[in-house]
Amino acid sequence: MLQLVRCARILRPKKNGTLASIQPHRTHLSFKASDLTYRLTSHPKPKPANPEECAFGSHYTDHMLSVKWDEENGWGIPCIKPLENLSLHPATSVFHYAIELFEGMKAFHTEDNRIAMFRPMENMKRMYMSAERSCLPTFDQKELLDCISELVRVDQDWVPRSNKASLYIRPTMIGTEPSLGVQRSLSALLYCILSPVGPYFKTGTLNPVSLLADPKYIRAAEGGAGAYKLGSNYGPTISIQHEAEKQGFQQVLWLYGDNQQLTEVGTMNVFVFWINDHGDKELVTASLDRGLILPGVIRSSLLELAKQWGEFKVTEGVITMEDIILKLQENRILEIFGTGTACVVCPVERIRYMGKDYHIPTMENGPYVAKKYYKQLTDIQYGKVQHEWSHTVVDNVKK
Ligand SMILES: Cc1ncc(COP(=O)(O)O)c(C=O)c1O
Repeated sequence: MLQLVRCARILRPKKNGTLASIQPHRTHLSFKASDLTYRLTSHPKPKPANPEECAFGSHYTDHMLSVKWDEENGWGIPCIKPLENLSLHPATSVFHYAIELFEGMKAFHTEDNRIAMFRPMENMKRMYMSAERSCLPTFDQKELLDCISELVRVDQDWVPRSNKASLYIRPTMIGTEPSLGVQRSLSALLYCILSPVGPYFKTGTLNPVSLLADPKYIRAAEGGAGAYKLGSNYGPTISIQHEAEKQGFQQVLWLYGDNQQLTEVGTMNVFVFWINDHGDKELVTASLDRGLILPGVIRSSLLELAKQWGEFKVTEGVITMEDIILKLQENRILEIFGTGTACVVCPVERIRYMGKDYHIPTMENGPYVAKKYYKQLTDIQYGKVQHEWSHTVVDNVKK
């Protein structure tokens, strides 16, 4: 049963008879899911007729989660309320200094009639690290997950009943300090919105993409913030992505350093499956140690699965464009693919580098590894197999 309480402050009588607003159970450390208040819409929006047709981020559900923080009082009471516009002073720090972080995760309607998320605590951990890096308030990760799960439960009718679509979950935190000072924000807003999304690969098969790799541009640098999911990492990539599209490529391959290391593909981690110098099959991905790449949830899942399978060597290290070109000449590149929540895996078929096009034989090679991962992960996400990575939010979904 939902507890229906307005998301207003609670009024208590003061000694002099007037009313003072107070925030019960406030803690500086975290908000709590057990304090959630609800203001539910009386005008639910029509759901998209065919969620499989929903473009990414084009539809939003009826409700949002919202919780405020300020330096003096700590976290406020979390609230689930109708999705609404924000009203902020034009000097607010998020607008001027991009004090903002976000996460991207999904809920799925499973074959065994549950609504489940995929490894959501990994997103909570990453969000916590992004908050620390942004000098925004931290929180109890489990409490945030419980609040988000509750939001998904409230809007459960929006989770597409399809194994080709899902509900994208976008937790966000912004600095709300109305000041132009370049300084830590003394107030913040954490919110979460939900959006039904269609399949990344419309045809159902893994469609390969082509990449523009221009060493003129980098996405992140050592000592920078590329390992955190901050909006400020994404804005400056858009003109390069636009340039790639104008030249007929779907994504940017982000290189780094004098030896032009492969770091990420667009907003995905990058994996190369090749035959190494010892003649063994090896799956290689950029390592996390210099903070150049986002520690993807799908990336770490692939690494863990590969170790369990024990079929080929797995390495986190440095991959350079020279490695790729040399191994291509020797027919030792088997597959290159990107990984991320949006697509799970995304095969690469062509790279333009220094004015030359390199064909990558990912599709000719199956793609064996990319397909195996795609199947295994989507089987877990859509509940075709039982797995500890599937986090149930609603059991026995009402039909
Ligand atoms: C820059 C970047 N790299 C990698 C990823 C993949 O991360 P995940 O597997 O957690 O979706 C994302 C996706 O959000 C991203 O934005």
